[in-house]
Amino acid sequence: MEQINIGMIGGGTVGSGVFRALEKNSALMTARLGVKLKVAKVAVKAFDEPRPYKIPVATMTTDWTTVVNDPKIQVVIELMGGTGLAKTVVLAALKLGKPVITANKALISKCGPELFAAAAKNNTNLYYEASVAGGIPIIKTIREALVGNRFTQIYGIVNGTCNYILTRMKNERAEFAEILGDAQKLGYAEAEPSLDVDGYDAMHKTHILASLAHGFWVDEKKILVEGIRSISQTDIQFAEKLGYTIKQLGIVKAAGAGKSEKVQISVYPALIPQQHVLANVNDVFNAVFVRGDIVGDTLYYGRGAGKDATASAVLGDIADAATDLVNGTPRRVPAFVDYGRRASVMPASESV
Ligand code: NDP
Ligand code: HSE
Repeated sequence: MEQINIGMIGGGTVGSGVFRALEKNSALMTARLGVKLKVAKVAVKAFDEPRPYKIPVATMTTDWTTVVNDPKIQVVIELMGGTGLAKTVVLAALKLGKPVITANKALISKCGPELFAAAAKNNTNLYYEASVAGGIPIIKTIREALVGNRFTQIYGIVNGTCNYILTRMKNERAEFAEILGDAQKLGYAEAEPSLDVDGYDAMHKTHILASLAHGFWVDEKKILVEGIRSISQTDIQFAEKLGYTIKQLGIVKAAGAGKSEKVQISVYPALIPQQHVLANVNDVFNAVFVRGDIVGDTLYYGRGAGKDATASAVLGDIADAATDLVNGTPRRVPAFVDYGRRASVMPASESV
């Protein structure tokens, strides 16, 4: 039976989660897929950093180039984060024709077109299911399961850290700064947590969802972004008295058709009626509504951050990459489709 050798760049919260998840379930995946999966090398910054799950020292290196360039490594997983060195790593692997898996939404949102073009040029794929909504398979859902639909609305809670903070602010009457430290300890927050609380992480994810639904990428600066930093106990309690719950939403709305279609992408804390399903999505959970013209309304729910939920999404991508390698069908579904028109992004002040 064929063995696929995997190299990981990053062995922190998500990386060690993937390592441990494969240790636990690789036999099950082998039975299902008919290939053996082995994490052969993991690049980290320092061997002795604390990690949620152990990675054998013999598997680790501090030189990522020895992972990417190793001819025995067939699939590269980028789990280091950031948009600098991570981009170099991803492009280096793609240029060698190796499939790349990433959970890095900041990188996909900022450099998506360039990275997907590099993958296509080298006849390989870039897989990124873990980049949006943790364990919820929302990328595949929009790109594959709902491919026959036009999307008029996609909206939801896409940042686990903010939802965890807002939930505890409501339930415990604490201020957000007190809770952020716990979100970091639990491995939910970004290495730079201002990305979470200032709304940029949700913006990256919402941008990715918009690109899948509408076939183009926009300048990130055109997206309205408002974080939760300024939400106080007064806001939470007033909202509650009026029958609302405050949730941070990522929203993609579209109106019109063809060349006159306009898309609006925004992220902000919103007042949700208490009886609405999103008002009851709590802690680290995420939920995404997708409205398609054929299917109608659909809803997806699950843990949006953390080592295990995110590892689950990476395992799904590993299965796709391994299957694609074995079957010799590297481009299963285009990562995104440019319909031949440019994005017409509406200002957030206009309503669609
Ligand atoms: P961590 O900070 O926990 O892990 C980062 C890893 O990258 C560490 O193992 C670190 O090494 C390694 N690293 C950093 N610089 C280098 C380098 N120069 N060479 C080799 N290795 C390096 O981050 P997370 O695991 O939380 O996040 C990783 C990615 O996954 C990010 O893009 C993040 O946005 C994304 N993500 C995170 C989720 C979460 O819930 N945490 C969920 C979904 C996506 P060392 O261990 O030695 O410090
Ligand atoms: N920091 C992110 C969040 C990780 O809290 O949602 C998952 O993408």
